Amino acid sequence: MNDRRPHPLRPHPHHFHDRQRGHDHAAKTHAVHRLGLGLCQRTGIKMTAQTEAKLLRIFGKLPPGRLLDWVSELERLPHNHPEWLAVIENLTVHETFFFRDGAQFEMLRRSVLPHLVAAAAAKDRRLRVWSAGCASGEEAYTVAILLMETLLEMGEATGTPETGISPARGWRVEVVGTDISRHMVEIARQGLYLTGEMSAFRSLPSPYERWFEDVFVDEAGGQARRRVRPWLKSFTRFQQLNLAFAEQPPEANFQLVLCRNVFIYLSVEAQNAAQTAFSNTLQENGVLVLGATDRLALPEHFQTEWDGDSMVYRRLPRS
Ligand SMILES: C[S@@+](CC[C@H](N)C(=O)[O-])C[C@H]1O[C@@H](n2cnc3c(N)ncnc32)[C@H](O)[C@@H]1O
Repeated sequence: MNDRRPHPLRPHPHHFHDRQRGHDHAAKTHAVHRLGLGLCQRTGIKMTAQTEAKLLRIFGKLPPGRLLDWVSELERLPHNHPEWLAVIENLTVHETFFFRDGAQFEMLRRSVLPHLVAAAAAKDRRLRVWSAGCASGEEAYTVAILLMETLLEMGEATGTPETGISPARGWRVEVVGTDISRHMVEIARQGLYLTGEMSAFRSLPSPYERWFEDVFVDEAGGQARRRVRPWLKSFTRFQQLNLAFAEQPPEANFQLVLCRNVFIYLSVEAQNAAQTAFSNTLQENGVLVLGATDRLALPEHFQTEWDGDSMVYRRLPRS
């Protein structure tokens, strides 16, 4: 009789496949680990078990040999090469919405912006804000709205959100948004957002609805969208920038920098590079706002100021 049970001393045909699968998995894990290290060096984004698992899910579909070849090729490319920038798109978390962490914006509206406007009015009427790690731009537009509102309230501008607001003569006002993700910067430039329950407008206080206009876009299956009013957009500018390599950013002379909910994704070295960028680009007495739970490791050149539960870092005068 033919006994089909596997002989204990003869390798079962499945054993070969299992072993091969094991080898493939180990090779892929190794390649993905190298990819993670390369990403961390080039983006400052810290690698965790979850990020590596995410990379393995996405890139582990490639056969191990090809994956390893591709990683080796990538490793020879500089940090700002389009190929690296494309990989980064899979990794960054872009969660954001208008008036996110409302208490911080309330503090800006109540105590920070009026002082910055008064100081600029007494000096050269230049006011520049940087939203660093702006994702799809909601943070930059939120601060632009509050800045325009403050100028209006202080008699330094005229108009309405519907017709457009013009700062008084001589004022130059600008909000610059930057992000490592080219895709996010493109969305931010368009300033066009889907509406709905979990959309960018989920926390928009109703008095601020008039700062946007409805649009219906046919090619998106007629989905309802709203956009930032074009006149407001003209006070903003968006560009791709990697904070991990931004110690000497291309721009300076900001009175206000927001970098919220970005530090949690960055390595300590990248956080330090970003902090150096902020201290270099902020004017004396300028203000840095981090996310509600973010902190500077060594707040050199800054002093902390509290307003209720919200805290800002103020740039100390340069000696
Ligand atoms: C969670 S979003 C925060 C958006 C917004 N600041 C807010 O608080 O709503 C984090 C953003 O940081 C960006 N980011 C991550 N690493 C970066 C880096 N090294 N340089 C610049 N931006 C980076 C991501 O692309 C992402 O859009």
